[in-house]
Amino acid sequence: MNLVLLGPPGAGKGTQAKRLENRHGIKQLSTGDMLREAVSSGSPLGQQVRSILENGQLVSDDIMTEMIADRIDQPDCAAGFILDGFPRTVGQAQSLEALLVKKGTRVDAVIQLKVDDQVLIDRIVGRFACANCGENYNKQFRPTKVPGVCDVCGSTEFTQRSDDTEETVRARLAGFYEMTQPILPYYRDRGLLYEIDGLQSFDQVTAEIEAVLSRSSAAAS
Ligand code: AP5
Repeated sequence: MNLVLLGPPGAGKGTQAKRLENRHGIKQLSTGDMLREAVSSGSPLGQQVRSILENGQLVSDDIMTEMIADRIDQPDCAAGFILDGFPRTVGQAQSLEALLVKKGTRVDAVIQLKVDDQVLIDRIVGRFACANCGENYNKQFRPTKVPGVCDVCGSTEFTQRSDDTEETVRARLAGFYEMTQPILPYYRDRGLLYEIDGLQSFDQVTAEIEAVLSRSSAAAS
């Protein structure tokens, strides 16, 4: 099964994609994570995109499409994938469709997570992760059980993304409304779009996504 998770920054795409990956064994492909890895490695791509990420702008469609084309050809995507952060423009959506047609496959469902802007900002500025195992937390919505200690590995070191400032989130949100929201009619017209209220609890959002997946598999068989 090939899924797309769509939504503004902080909507819960990464959180839900990880849950789906664990439950269904289909690979999460986060373009944000791939770009951040390129920046940390200091590769030519990383040097090219560093300031774009820091300013909350979008990387070009050509770079992103090439990155996804390479990635979905890897063996760990053979059983399917969950796209988290791609496509982000109508051009990327069209390129994805062309890539998948060539591979004889398609997007099975597009899940849109809807969340109010103010909640998004609170979620993003409160987000942090364990520096050792990468477990994600949130000061307000998902704190560690023991303050300052990772629930999973016990580390006391944490990190925050450099683009998780209120100013950058506002730029990322503006980019979402201008460039990404126009994708919604593209997928609605193809009968693939499912809207989910991302303001619900973590587990309620997961349950609604699972219900969509069941409906979408039943429709395909
Ligand atoms: P990317 O990493 O994709 O960032 P984003 O889209 O802004 O999304 P986030 O990762 O910030 O949020 P999320 O929706 O995954 O939310 P999360 O689950 O973490 O992209 C970063 C940058 O890379 C872009 O700005 C751009 O420059 C570039 N880029 C990436 N892809 C690109 C592309 N295709 N084209 C061009 N450029 C591209 O949740 C957020 C917080 O909320 C967490 O703390 C979580 O615990 C909490 N939370 C989640 N769900 C709930 C809930 N139900 N209730 C309460 N709290 C919750």
